[in-house]
Amino acid sequence: MAILLAIETSCDETACAIVKDGKEILSNIVSSQINVHTLYGGVVPEVASRIHVENISAVIDEAIKKANISMEDVDGIAYTLGPGLIGSLHVGVQAAKTLAFLYNKPLIPINHMTGHIYANAFVSELKFPLLALVVSGGHSELVWMKNDWDFKVLGTTRDDAIGEAYDKVARVLGLGYPGGPIIDKLAKEGEAHYQLPTPKTDGAYDFSFSGLKTAVLQLKAREEKKGAEVKPADLAYAFQETALHSLVSKTIQAVKDYQPSMLVLAGGVAANSRLRELIQSEMEKHPECELVIPPLWCCTDNAAMIGAAGEIAYQHELFGDFDASADPSLMMPGEE
Ligand code: KG4
Ligand code: ZN
Repeated sequence: MAILLAIETSCDETACAIVKDGKEILSNIVSSQINVHTLYGGVVPEVASRIHVENISAVIDEAIKKANISMEDVDGIAYTLGPGLIGSLHVGVQAAKTLAFLYNKPLIPINHMTGHIYANAFVSELKFPLLALVVSGGHSELVWMKNDWDFKVLGTTRDDAIGEAYDKVARVLGLGYPGGPIIDKLAKEGEAHYQLPTPKTDGAYDFSFSGLKTAVLQLKAREEKKGAEVKPADLAYAFQETALHSLVSKTIQAVKDYQPSMLVLAGGVAANSRLRELIQSEMEKHPECELVIPPLWCCTDNAAMIGAAGEIAYQHELFGDFDASADPSLMMPGEE
C-alpha cells in the first residue's frame, strides 16, 4: 500500500495524479492539448512534446497541492515508459527521474496499456482470469490476464488501431479531430444506407482497420464521381457499425473460448457509446462473466490509471532505474 505520484505524457495529455493504495484518487490533473492539435487535424508530435515541456511542472505542482500532500508523503514515482510518442514520453520520463532523484523515491516504470486496464480498478475489484479489450488511438488489443499482473496479448491490430481509423475517417469526411467522439455522435443520426466490407484477418483475435478506412475513402470518391450526395452521418454509421461489429464479435469469441471471470473495456475508444451498448447487450448472454465498463473520465488518457497500475508494480517491487529511457514501442510486461 502506497501513495504514488503518477505521471503520464505518452501522447497529447500532460497528466499527473496522486493515488493512494491504487484505489483512492487524491488528485488527477489532466492538461489536454486537443485545442492545439485540432488546428492541425491531428497530433503533431513535435508540438506535443513542446507543450508537455511547457506544462509538466505546473501540472505536477497542481496535483501535489490538490492532494494536499508534500513530496515527503510520496512512496514512489510511477510514470509511463511507453508505448507512445517518443518526444512526449521523454518529458514525463525526465520529470519522473528528476523527482525521484531530488526526493530519493523509487521509480516505477509503467506500460501505458497496463494503465488503461488497471483504470478499471477505480470502479470495480478486478477478478481474474480477466479479459481486457484495450482500444485506443494507438492500440486495439485483446489481453488475457490469468492472474494479477500477468499479461498475454491474444490478438492485436495488423495495421491501424481502431482509434486511429476513427480519426482518419473523420478527417476524410472533414469532420475534425479527434474523430472518435465526433463519429460517435454523428452516427446516431445516420441510417443503414451504405455497405462496407467486413475486416478480415488470419488470427482469430486479430483486428484490421486499414482496409475499412480505405473503403470509406473509396465509397466517398465513387459517390462523388456519380454526382450523388454523400451523407456523412450515413457513412459514419456504416463505418462505426462495421468496425465495432469486428471488435465485439472477436471479443465475444474470446469470452466463449477463454471463459474469463471478468471482461473490462479500456482505452479512449471504450468511451464510444455504441461500443458500450453493443458489448453490454452481447454480454447479457454470458452472465457468468462480469462486465466492467469504465466511466468516460478513466477511458481516455490520464495519470490516475498509471498510479493504479503503479500500485501493483510497487507491490511486486518492479522498480526502475535512472538508465531507463522512454520506449515508444514498449511491449506489455512478459511479452518481450
Ligand atoms: O486512450 P486515448 O485517450 O489515447 C491513446 O492512448 O491513444 O485514446 C484516444 C483515441 C482517439 O483516437 C479518439 O478518437 C478515440 O480514442 N476516442 C473515441 C471516442 N472518444 C475517444 N473513439 C470512438 N468513440 C468515442 N466516443
Ligand atoms: Zn491511451
